[in-house]
Amino acid sequence: MTGSLDGRTGLVTGAGQGIGRAIAVELARQGAAAVAVADRNEETLAETAELVRAAGARAEAIVCDLRVTDSIAAMVTRTAEHFDGLDILVNNAGVIETAFTTEPDRGVDSLPEAVWDAVYEVNLKAVWLTTKFAAPYLRRSPRGPAIVNTASVSGLTGFPNSPAYGVTKAGVIHLTKVTAVDLAPVRCNCFCPGVIDTPLARDFLAAAEDPDTLERHLTAPQLVERFGRPEEVARLACFLASDDAAFITGSSYVIDGGALAWLGVRD
Ligand SMILES: NC(=O)c1ccc[n+]([C@@H]2O[C@H](COP(=O)([O-])OP(=O)(O)OC[C@H]3O[C@@H](n4cnc5c(N)ncnc54)[C@H](O)[C@@H]3O)[C@@H](O)[C@H]2O)c1
Repeated sequence: MTGSLDGRTGLVTGAGQGIGRAIAVELARQGAAAVAVADRNEETLAETAELVRAAGARAEAIVCDLRVTDSIAAMVTRTAEHFDGLDILVNNAGVIETAFTTEPDRGVDSLPEAVWDAVYEVNLKAVWLTTKFAAPYLRRSPRGPAIVNTASVSGLTGFPNSPAYGVTKAGVIHLTKVTAVDLAPVRCNCFCPGVIDTPLARDFLAAAEDPDTLERHLTAPQLVERFGRPEEVARLACFLASDDAAFITGSSYVIDGGALAWLGVRD
């Protein structure tokens, strides 16, 4: 299938599974010529690269630790050299506190400093550094260059027991705006997912004392009564990366089944 991303080259971080994998495959499905997929998990990354090839694009799998500056720089350089440029950057990788602690109490008054730092490094600092290193290539792109950042509804509203996650996602929403300003005409937008059915969401539920109750609480405010699907998020990300969104920059898009549309919960 060809689509609105014909001939573009892209880099997607956190593409080993979940939303990042879905975005990488959707970029290929919509006509991207080549997609670099980056993740720290070599095994799942190789699977994503195969899916991208099966969807019709060249794929380059790059093992990267987004907490290490040199690793980020190498990821960007390798992508741009391999594909002779870069048109689309998707800063998607993200982590939540439960990736670094099994403590059930992770609130503002108890979160260990090391957990805060780890979440900050992946969710916000790495988004900035990747953008910084990719900027020279994006500026040279003749094909409507675009950055798409993955934020979260947690960056728009308070959420218990995940202070570093929410604060870093709020940071991503603002980083999106300042990036759009400083890099124009390179466009930069972000999207804010609610609960999406990925390993991150499932691991977060599993860490709860009562996962079933938490799952019901998470979806109760939604008007669409189910978890979102990574493919639904991927289509929004690809729209923002495409020329169809040529007049959109510095913006945030909520994709949450209507949870933020009201202050209620379903019975
Ligand atoms: N799933 C949800 O409900 C949800 C909701 C809102 C926002 N998000 C955001 O969507 C993005 C993707 O989330 P997901 O649910 O697909 O998560 P996921 O955990 O399923 O996938 C994230 C990927 O990022 C990779 N990653 C983590 N740390 C890394 C590092 N230091 N270096 C390189 N790669 C690293 C992981 O290996 C993994 O493959 C994240 O930014 C997340 O915060 C997810």
